[in-house]
Amino acid sequence: MSHRDVDLAHLSAGVVTPVADEQERRAEVSLRPGTLDAFVGQRELVRHLEIVLGSAKARHQSADHLLFAGPPGLGKTSLASIVAVEMGSGLRITSGPVLSRPGDLAALLTDLQDGDVLFIDEIHRLSRAVEEVLYPAMEDRRLDVMIGRGPSARSIRLDLPNFTLVGATTRTGLVAAPLRDRFGFIGQLDLYDVDELAVIAQRSALLLDVNLQGDAAMIIASRSRGTPRIANRLLRRVRDFAAVQGHRVVDDSVVVEALELFGVDEYGLDKIDRRILGLLCGQFANQPVGLTTLAHACGEEPATIEDAYEPYLLREGLLIRTPRGRVSTEKAYRHLGVSPHSGGLF
Ligand SMILES: Nc1ncnc2c1ncn2[C@@H]1O[C@H](COP(=O)(O)OP(=O)(O)O)[C@@H](O)[C@H]1O
Ligand SMILES: [Mg+2]
Repeated sequence: MSHRDVDLAHLSAGVVTPVADEQERRAEVSLRPGTLDAFVGQRELVRHLEIVLGSAKARHQSADHLLFAGPPGLGKTSLASIVAVEMGSGLRITSGPVLSRPGDLAALLTDLQDGDVLFIDEIHRLSRAVEEVLYPAMEDRRLDVMIGRGPSARSIRLDLPNFTLVGATTRTGLVAAPLRDRFGFIGQLDLYDVDELAVIAQRSALLLDVNLQGDAAMIIASRSRGTPRIANRLLRRVRDFAAVQGHRVVDDSVVVEALELFGVDEYGLDKIDRRILGLLCGQFANQPVGLTTLAHACGEEPATIEDAYEPYLLREGLLIRTPRGRVSTEKAYRHLGVSPHSGGLF
């Protein structure tokens, strides 16, 4: 093995997990679609959003509060910044876990400029106390602040500027009902199809100056688990491979070779996916498994399995949910190369 191979092997860690780390988030900024026109797919959501934003602009008002829900890497953060661009307004970004005390949110709200978009990522992780501050702010642009302590304590009311709250969450069901009810529009993002992901990969290739030829973009797309973030990540790894190998043109065979090197199979399944299917087709062959048991056996949080892994396995018909638990399908057995009647893998 040359030192070049070692470098590439190191890069393959976590290549198809849907969740991004800090370094990747920085790499992603340059690939973000800047306007609704550049945002590929999610046609129905985009059409509804155009109406909501268009009507607010016509009335010279801030848009209604918006909630975007869907698995990681599908474009929720991108949409939040597109909303600000389309409305011609400023964007403030924070997240549920960062706003730990009511005072943190109050400080942000009182600092908003007229018309700003306030983006709260992972909004389902706000504490109850912080949510309580948000309700009157969303409803009446009002902030109630307590001053002093004990008998002399009193509450004063501050008026806030016009603003649009944009929330993002992996599942609407995780957002407390009273908070959910205060959004004027809830947009559900679904996994992308292969054609859409190929368009995204091709557009990113232009931005990264990668020369994709033949079916290269389609092959990347079909191994991206329905997720633009993964399509962009696979493209960057293919670019690295091509650069190290000295390929100026990236055709089908270069892509296939690169993705095989990084351990990405034809469905784009990563090691957690394969472990889930391996358990369902092996140790738990032909019996339904509860989410908690499955997560425990994979060494992951149940929410991660449910939000980041299951949607794609469900869509591809590799796994189904029954009232008694998860079971794998014939297709999963075929993919793993075992017989459903052999008593499993192990
Ligand atoms: N509809 C889309 N069109 C083009 N690129 C997209 C689209 N959705 C997501 N992306 C790309 O995927 C990456 C991850 O998107 P992001 O908005 O951060 O997802 P989320 O916030 O849902 O996890 C972004 O860098 C962006 O380039
Ligand atoms: Mg995000």
